[in-house]
Amino acid sequence: MTITTELQGKANRYLWMQAKGWDDMAASGEPMIIDHANGVSVTDIEGNTWLDVNGGYSSINIGYGRKQMADVVKNQMLELSYYPEQTTTFPNALLAEKLAEITPGDLSRVWPVSGGSEANEIAVRMARAYHVRRGDKGRYKIISRYGSYHGATSGVAWLGRPSSLGLNQYEPGPLGMIYASQPNPFSCSWGGKSPSECAVLCAQDIENLIIQNDPDTIAAIIGEPITSSLGAVVPGQEYWPIVREICDRYGILLIDDEVVCGFGRTGRMFGIEHFGVTPDIMTLAKGLGSSYVPIGATIVSTKVADAFAGKENIFYAALTAGGHPVSTASALENINIIEQEDLVEASAVKGRYFIEKLNGLSDKHSVIGDVRGIGLLVAIELVGEFTIDDEDLGVWLVNTFKKNGLLLRTLSSRVIQMSPPLCVTETEIDFIIDGLDATLTKLSSHISKV
Ligand SMILES: Cc1ncc(COP(=O)(O)O)c(C=O)c1O
Repeated sequence: MTITTELQGKANRYLWMQAKGWDDMAASGEPMIIDHANGVSVTDIEGNTWLDVNGGYSSINIGYGRKQMADVVKNQMLELSYYPEQTTTFPNALLAEKLAEITPGDLSRVWPVSGGSEANEIAVRMARAYHVRRGDKGRYKIISRYGSYHGATSGVAWLGRPSSLGLNQYEPGPLGMIYASQPNPFSCSWGGKSPSECAVLCAQDIENLIIQNDPDTIAAIIGEPITSSLGAVVPGQEYWPIVREICDRYGILLIDDEVVCGFGRTGRMFGIEHFGVTPDIMTLAKGLGSSYVPIGATIVSTKVADAFAGKENIFYAALTAGGHPVSTASALENINIIEQEDLVEASAVKGRYFIEKLNGLSDKHSVIGDVRGIGLLVAIELVGEFTIDDEDLGVWLVNTFKKNGLLLRTLSSRVIQMSPPLCVTETEIDFIIDGLDATLTKLSSHISKV
């Protein structure tokens, strides 16, 4: 028995891994045992190296293996390993100030948490509690967009109702979930022929839903500025400004989920900046700490924060790991690296190069129906009919990418989203393109109709 098979045996016997079955894994010689990582590359216990095109879970913005991150974490642990967030600590105060400085508009009061699901749970609770404190007790409904993902915990799992979560087994879900269409120019639910047309029609869909569901009962609208859960769906430029205006007109709060899009992922510090819109609440995780340690945050505007001022208005919630000083110290260093190395601009520039190369690839492979994205959040969507069924196609693609040196998940079997660390080089992007090319060339023998 090798060390790999021994560890696989233990994992398949005792560990409950994410979105995978232990029997399937045992049968197919999984899981991989990842041992170390540096920059954009990860290496398994047997010394095989791959380029991590997923960037973890679209979260390793600064790349793997930064020594200064380890130094900061170690020093913070030695200095003060933990203290609850009813007092505060040096790194927490500094991080809150930093987030207030770099987020748009007057977003300025920070509630630290330990991940994206928690950030969105808190955002939804704050939105509802905000209306109650203003005497508007009937507002509890939340509008999200079909297919969006905002987290896995019991409340936010229902936002977007993503098909991957199999939510019907947990019914009944929370009351007041309303689902709008996604402004996806490639397959606009309302038949929009251009990104702009689709944007306007999908924003109109939100207003129609508000009217149908009684405007006075709607608390908030939540969305990612660029929908990562459906593969880098960039709405037409009109979408977010119209949604912002609708929110203002009906007294509804706008929650901007920047868990994936934040911290340079889309070539701006925050995705919503592409649209010139300021949300009322913004949620952060992933790129906030580049997954060196768990961290997330919910940040609100002065208007929202003011509703919670005063003894009688306190927001009662406490999370043991919220504002953990080791996490906040490491997030500060992570932001420092993003700023010092100008990784936001790097993401914009490399993203343009990536999209150009993907367009070249789509000229060669007619199976690529759409190339989309912005910054280093890009995707291709496959079209056509295959001799393998959809579920097997996803597995086939992942395995073939792997043989070509790429770690790459598919979202649905036909949507392949790529979000490498923001320090990826053009040479590494060329390597990704070569791996995609080789995989799609091999796929051609499984295509029955394009
Ligand atoms: C857009 C978005 N929001 C929220 C979450 C939940 O974040 P976490 O997994 O840190 O709880 C995710 C996770 O993938 C996400 O993609």
